[in-house]
Amino acid sequence: MPRSRTKFLAVKQTTKMIYDFVEQVSTAGCQDMESNNQSSKLANSISELIRSRATRKVLGDVASPVAISKLVAAANDPKVISAIRTAGWAPFHYDRAIDGIAEPWRIHVLWNAECRKVANHLTDWFDDLKPSNKLPSMLSACGALILVNWLPQFQNDGEDSNLVEAKEKQVQIDEEHLAATAALVQNLILVLTSEGMGTYWSSGGQFRTSKMFDRLGIPQRERMLAAVFVEYPETMDSPNERLAGKQRDKRSEPTSWLKEIRL
Ligand SMILES: Cc1cc2nc3c(=O)[nH]c(=O)nc-3n(C[C@H](O)[C@H](O)[C@H](O)COP(=O)(O)O)c2cc1C
Repeated sequence: MPRSRTKFLAVKQTTKMIYDFVEQVSTAGCQDMESNNQSSKLANSISELIRSRATRKVLGDVASPVAISKLVAAANDPKVISAIRTAGWAPFHYDRAIDGIAEPWRIHVLWNAECRKVANHLTDWFDDLKPSNKLPSMLSACGALILVNWLPQFQNDGEDSNLVEAKEKQVQIDEEHLAATAALVQNLILVLTSEGMGTYWSSGGQFRTSKMFDRLGIPQRERMLAAVFVEYPETMDSPNERLAGKQRDKRSEPTSWLKEIRL
């Protein structure tokens, strides 16, 4: 069995354990369970899930993109939406209060057909696009692309800017809007990983630009935090090149950045 498939099944099992646990909590109640045992199983599963998440940049061919059948899209697209909804349980500190929406984030999804269209248009839309730019090939391989934006309140130097000099409190508020959105991104990637999908958190490249926002109908007041490329399980055995994250192996021993304070 291919390695990606084995990993997919292992992660699937982890997800099932999490769902079983949540179901047991809601039906039987915590007191009725061997709660210690169950909690530690859940903690192990979550640790395993966090550690199994890894960047995978899948490079396709614009002239011959990875084919995603209607059946595969129908099986996976709703899971992506469900993962986004779950990710939306991320904590957030301040009511951003735009359009009656408290959350500081906005999400835009492009399914595989739209990704392939953007891949084809990129060189027309951006005449300075370098041949080495990986966006077209990544857009030719993904099952979906999720753009995660946030709404700066004070740091926005665009048209909606309501302040020239941000004060300390205002910087903190914006940092926390951004931090909440980052929590959503990690939630999202973990749920997608638990569904056996591949993920890559990119800064967005050309997707971050105001030109692209206009092309995609994204309001200019939003700022991009992540363009998450999603690979569907059914296409994981395709012969495409897959690159790991550049920092993956640079992780230090946690004692180098972890200190316990004792007074
Ligand atoms: C905020 C953020 C932005 C990122 N943007 C990029 C990017 O533009 N290009 C890239 O190659 N990787 C990007 N990454 C992914 C990192 O390269 C990757 O997380 C890192 O190499 C560690 O690998 P791992 O995710 O497999 O642990 C980004 C990660 C974060 C958190």
